[in-house]
Amino acid sequence: MKLAIIGTGYVGLPTGVGFAELGTNVVCVDKIPAKIDCLNRGELTLFEDGLDELFRKNVASGKIRFTLDMQSAVSGADVVMLAVGTPPHPVTKEADLQYIYAAAKELAQYLDRYTVVATKSTVPVGTGDEIEKIIHEVNPSADFDVVSIPEFLREGFAIHDFFNPDRIVIGANSERAKEVMRKLYAPFVDKCSFLWVKRRSSETIKYASNAFLAMKIHYINEMADFCEKSGADIREVAKGMGLDTRIGNKFLNPGPGYGGSCFPKDTNAMAQMGRKYGSILSLIETTIAKNDERKAKMGQRVIDTIKSNPEGKIAVLGLAFKGGTDDCRESPAIDIVKEMIKHSHNICVYDPKAMQNAKAILGDNVKYAASMYDACENADVMVILTEWEDFKYIDLSSIKQKMHSAKIVDLRNIIDGQKAVELGFEYQCVGKA
Ligand code: UGA
Repeated sequence: MKLAIIGTGYVGLPTGVGFAELGTNVVCVDKIPAKIDCLNRGELTLFEDGLDELFRKNVASGKIRFTLDMQSAVSGADVVMLAVGTPPHPVTKEADLQYIYAAAKELAQYLDRYTVVATKSTVPVGTGDEIEKIIHEVNPSADFDVVSIPEFLREGFAIHDFFNPDRIVIGANSERAKEVMRKLYAPFVDKCSFLWVKRRSSETIKYASNAFLAMKIHYINEMADFCEKSGADIREVAKGMGLDTRIGNKFLNPGPGYGGSCFPKDTNAMAQMGRKYGSILSLIETTIAKNDERKAKMGQRVIDTIKSNPEGKIAVLGLAFKGGTDDCRESPAIDIVKEMIKHSHNICVYDPKAMQNAKAILGDNVKYAASMYDACENADVMVILTEWEDFKYIDLSSIKQKMHSAKIVDLRNIIDGQKAVELGFEYQCVGKA
């Protein structure tokens, strides 16, 4: 089977490498020459746990290759997967479909046999119909079907999730397309549930799932605020809730608000779709507004700790939108640092993987440390914004010696609070007074 993947980002690249590992012949296309050059030199363009080894192995065996040339990738392909970005429109916040439509237009010219065009990018309901129209217009004799195959990979766990999916959802309106997709996904048959649905349902499932998870986070964050006021402990509350299998114990970690390239974008796009179809999604609308508010509130919480010494140094640990990735897109950590920059000129930041990406956003407004210990040198408060394992096991005694005043604001609840207090830190976490 030949699979062409258009777009070599956080979705396209791990998916391509995953399929190559399963024995499919994969060609990945991208528009950016520097990316393709880099991949062809055998270097990765992004960080994903476990990707490097599989990438090298499959490049060496020739199961995966990278090109700028759409024609060579698409011609003879059984499946062409669209994995290009659908970023939010800066004003309307709707998913911007220009890249996916441009890719459809371009690939259409090279369809030379029956091909399934499978949309992996997250796209609003009805986009499959548009792609179908575009391909017909460009190439009226093309023999093809458009299916929707939403991806549910988490960044940082993309390789794990690729090989161990909870479910595979395929939105296909034709039997012929289903047959091809069955072949491509045959290695997963005994691994997870398959759901065959209408294309429009499949497009909606992706948004409805992400929006639900975002809402679950908003709910636990609101509950954490309540616990801080009422004397309960959110960790105990979340544990008690999560033991109910109907609720489940995942996505009940309170924090600085959700971020990343998916939840903010997808909740906004879903809300926008609700407005478009005259069916207001009020829970999602509220989730979006409250999540934005939360980041500003958390920034203020940190600033309050240096009220008596506004020149005091703030050490920030964590810039990526979550642990396990170098991605800073829509990172709550970045938004919180931006909020702090409004009030402080003495901020020093550190992240194990995301320094380069963060620098591109924060520029000279903060200082950059070489390690978490360096960041805390002479600091008046240490703030944890991303849940990296390294931070969990930070040596609190040695940090205390380095710091000017012993204060910790742990917005990810990963530090052993009791130990911190015993060592003499003033310790604040989320969801416990
Ligand atoms: C999310 C979904 O989990 C994936 O299933 C989906 O495929 C992906 O979006 C996508 O649409 O491409 P991802 O953005 O990688 O994956 O990140 P998550 O692990 O879901 O975390 C999102 C945000 O929620 C992060 O900022 C994280 O810190 C926050 N979060 C998550 C919490 O604050 N609390 C939690 O309990 C869980």
